[in-house]
Amino acid sequence: VFNHLLRAPEDPILGVTVAYNKDPSPVKLNLGVGAYRTEEGKPLVLNVVRKVEQQLINDLSRNKEYLPIVGLADFNKLSAKLIFGADSPAIQENRVTTVQCLSGTGSLRVGGEFLAKHYHQRTIYLPTPTWGNHPKVFNLAGLSVETYRYYAPATRGLDFQGFLEDLGSAPSGSIVLLHACAHNPTGVDPTLEQWEQIRQLIRSKALLPFFDSAYQGFASGSLDADAQPVRLFVADGGELLVAQSYAKNLGLYGERVGALSIVCKSADVASRVESQLKLVIRPMYSNPPIHGASIVAGILKDGDLFNEWTIELKAMADRIISMRQQLFDALRSRETPGDWSHIIKQIGMFTFTGLNAEQVSFMTNEYHIYMTSDGRISMAGLSSKTVPHLADAIHAAVTR
Ligand code: LMR
Repeated sequence: VFNHLLRAPEDPILGVTVAYNKDPSPVKLNLGVGAYRTEEGKPLVLNVVRKVEQQLINDLSRNKEYLPIVGLADFNKLSAKLIFGADSPAIQENRVTTVQCLSGTGSLRVGGEFLAKHYHQRTIYLPTPTWGNHPKVFNLAGLSVETYRYYAPATRGLDFQGFLEDLGSAPSGSIVLLHACAHNPTGVDPTLEQWEQIRQLIRSKALLPFFDSAYQGFASGSLDADAQPVRLFVADGGELLVAQSYAKNLGLYGERVGALSIVCKSADVASRVESQLKLVIRPMYSNPPIHGASIVAGILKDGDLFNEWTIELKAMADRIISMRQQLFDALRSRETPGDWSHIIKQIGMFTFTGLNAEQVSFMTNEYHIYMTSDGRISMAGLSSKTVPHLADAIHAAVTR
């Protein structure tokens, strides 16, 4: 009965890893997926994660019962505190509902389905470009997807004018997807002053902000600083949604741990929203997994472990920043044509190199360097040892 099926293409991001795994070359390098690697090119499990996992194993009072539909209560409370700040008025006034979801993607999907069912506007505006999964998540959630200008290829920076114009002409009430920090794939973020202008425009047009916060702590190395754009919107008392992921900042990729928070106008509305979120979640995956959320809650509720986490997080962010400098220096020393200063200016895990699909495929075929065809490279996958190889490949690709 499935004879008619055509083979579907691999995912544009995760498929890069599939291709990389098949390559027998000893010099191959995977700069596709945004996943942190050590200087030795190995995945990293944070020490705080190991510690809490050990505590969880030793605690024989724990069991494997189902979590509630909305997930682990402690995890939800602490996640809201992490993104909104402990003294957030929305938390103090009980106007936030937070549900544990399957990492960032699952949080976006649950939020998208909730909006498609219960919000009066069905259109969501995504930045151009955006994470490749965003349009698919929201389309399948039942929303219709439009775009707003975000990145200016000419300056390799923010197209702030285009951004404001496009949101300015969006129908009132439209949903706007915003990357909370470390925009994926461009690494280009608005300044705080620009965020304030964006906020004023969004509120004046009664647009509904939906933040994707997948990199809190990775942009600046500070969890609070990276949450500022979200907190700016919470401070004005208006409504918003936030999808949080602990994949990158706690290295919990495969544990699929994240949260969706919806800030409402009153505690009563928030509790009704939560009751409806349960109806979205139950038929989708019933209730979320317990292990990853227990790790996160263990870290967030313990002052010492929390501090240890911030140090480990800062070390990851700093290593990425040092990779930016090393790659920039390597291209300069090769006198590679072009202005590569965007490598050190962009923020977070990725550099949006400006290399085109044909140059990317040359680098993959000739140098065994794997990256997404839009020219995005995951700086987190790079090390001092592999920088020269990447610089050689970029040099060859642009001087061909
Ligand atoms: C990425 O953009 O590489 C990450 O967010 C991983 C993913 O799921 O695509």
